[in-house]
Parts: sequence; C-alpha cells; structure tokens
Amino acid sequence: MDAITCLKTRRSIRAYAETPVAQDILEDIVDCARLAPTAMNRQPWTFIAIREQATRQRLAAIVEHAPFLAQAPVCVAVFCAGSEFWVEDGSAAIENLLLAAHAHGLGACWVAGYQLPYTETIRELLGGPPDARLLALVTVGYAAESPAPDKRALADVLRWERFGK
Ligand SMILES: Cc1cc2nc3c(=O)[nH]c(=O)nc-3n(C[C@H](O)[C@H](O)[C@H](O)COP(=O)(O)O)c2cc1C
Repeated sequence: MDAITCLKTRRSIRAYAETPVAQDILEDIVDCARLAPTAMNRQPWTFIAIREQATRQRLAAIVEHAPFLAQAPVCVAVFCAGSEFWVEDGSAAIENLLLAAHAHGLGACWVAGYQLPYTETIRELLGGPPDARLLALVTVGYAAESPAPDKRALADVLRWERFGK
C-alpha cells in the first residue's frame, strides 16, 4: 500500500477478530511510531504494549467509551515525559502508529486523552514513574468491521491565502 492510499483509507476500528498480532509486526508498528518528529528531537515517549487480557479488561472498566479495549488483542499505551511539547510529540507518534497498523493490514483506534480523570490510575496500573503522562491508549488487531465515518469535504476545509473565500 502506498503512503497516500494508507492515509486516505485508514479508519478507526473498534471490533476485532480473535486472530493474534505477531510480535514482529507489533514491533514494526511501534518502530514506525518512535520515528515520528519531535520538538528538539527529544523523543520523550515510552510505549507499553499490553497483550494480557486481564490488564485490558481492567483498562476497559476504567476508560469510558472504549469497551473494545477488552476485545482487541493488543493495546499500546503511549506515555511521555520530559518535554513541554509532549502532546504534539506523542500525537505525531500515535498517528504513525495508526497508519503503520493500517499498512500492515491491521485496524487500530486512538482511545482516551491526557486531560481525562483516569490517566493517573492507568499510569499506576502499568507501573509508570510519577512524571510519565498518559497521552492515549491505541487498540490494535485484525478488523472485524469496515466503518465509513463522514468526513468534511476538502472544499469545506481548505482556503487559499486567508480565511474567507
Ligand atoms: C484524541 C482522540 C481521542 C479519541 N478517543 C476515542 C475513544 O475514547 N473511543 C473511541 O471509540 N474512539 C476514540 N477516538 C477515535 C475517534 O472517534 C475517530 O478518530 C473519529 O470518529 C474519526 O473516525 P476515523 O478515525 O475512522 O477517521 C479518539 C480520537 C482522538 C484523536
């Protein structure tokens, strides 16, 4: 799959087949994530790949709006520390992660956010140090659905030179 096709066909997947994800594929997906751009090249992240079902079930109970955390074969928790630009840095890595999963024929979904009340609970659950801040959980697995969410048209979002016509 070429890069443009990958970008244009990626969709959030929330229903997964039981097929496990091979370790080398998962490592390659995180390898793509860690190559994302970062402010001053700080690369302030740690990726925790969670395959244990008991842990994913606990995450599904903690996080609102993501019961599929229990069903997806893998969840990658993205933590950052030590950069004032950690949200931007981590978000770039997460998008790489989503696209790399899609390029490998897998589905993925960005879950949660750093301002939500349970991020500290999840940090403690996963044994993170006090300065590690959870940016997102990303579920990964083989898709069992083909969603087609609405997207705003290019003509609705692109303006040339300035706002307005
Ligand atoms: C910061 C952020 C948080 C999100 N959190 C959730 C979530 O908790 N549960 C969920 O099902 N999807 C979540 N999503 C996925 C969005 O719902 C999804 O990207 C959006 O509906 C557009 O669909 P698409 O990714 O298929 O283009 C999140 C996405 C982002 C960027």
